[in-house]
Amino acid sequence: MHVLITAGPTREYVDDVRFLSNASSGRMGYAVAEAARRRNWEVTLVSGPVSLAAPAGVEVHRVTSAQEMLEVCLQVLPRVDGVIAVAAVADYRPVSRHAGKLRRTQESLHLELVPNPDILAEIGRRKSHQWTVGFAVESDDPLARARGKLRSKNCDAIVVNLRDAMESTDTKIQMLDHAGAVSLDFQGSKELAAERVIVWIEAHLVR
Ligand code: CTP
Repeated sequence: MHVLITAGPTREYVDDVRFLSNASSGRMGYAVAEAARRRNWEVTLVSGPVSLAAPAGVEVHRVTSAQEMLEVCLQVLPRVDGVIAVAAVADYRPVSRHAGKLRRTQESLHLELVPNPDILAEIGRRKSHQWTVGFAVESDDPLARARGKLRSKNCDAIVVNLRDAMESTDTKIQMLDHAGAVSLDFQGSKELAAERVIVWIEAHLVR
């Protein structure tokens, strides 16, 4: 079993010293990579900028932007059996990157943002034999929104991260199967949640 895992945030540069990003620590994605390794899977991790050490025995590709993450994922895709997308990809990027440093003025500054590619959806369009699993962070109407993503991104399952557990060390997840039914309900550490997700995939998606 060879799995491609995306993890961490992406950075979208405004100029050479400033970027748009989000607060993802990468911990969940790295925990999933470690859980997969413990079950003897071959793991290729495509990671945005995080301060975590590479898990032992894992091939890590470090990337910065969503576009770079997509490029590396599409290169790796033909060699893997499945994909788990845990990365918190920035939804938008500045239309262009200003060379050098934008100078401060007394005027308002308008940044034009353009949508980033949806990496998991692109993988969903191109996949052949591979299974794909997404991770969705949801607040309002989580199951309905996650079911929408399951379809639009052509996933075999989706892990719903319920936001009320985001600030604590624990996480609260539900896993929806291909039909959108709740197939796993778990609250506990990110490490144990990652373990449960991998065990679920082994039982339901690995042929
Ligand atoms: N994802 C991705 N590329 C993007 C956005 C999301 O690969 N540009 C993946 C994430 O890694 C995750 C899944 O899609 O596995 C769901 O991510 P989420 O942020 O919940 O969904 P979005 O599509 O960004 O929708 P929204 O922000 O409107 O909730």
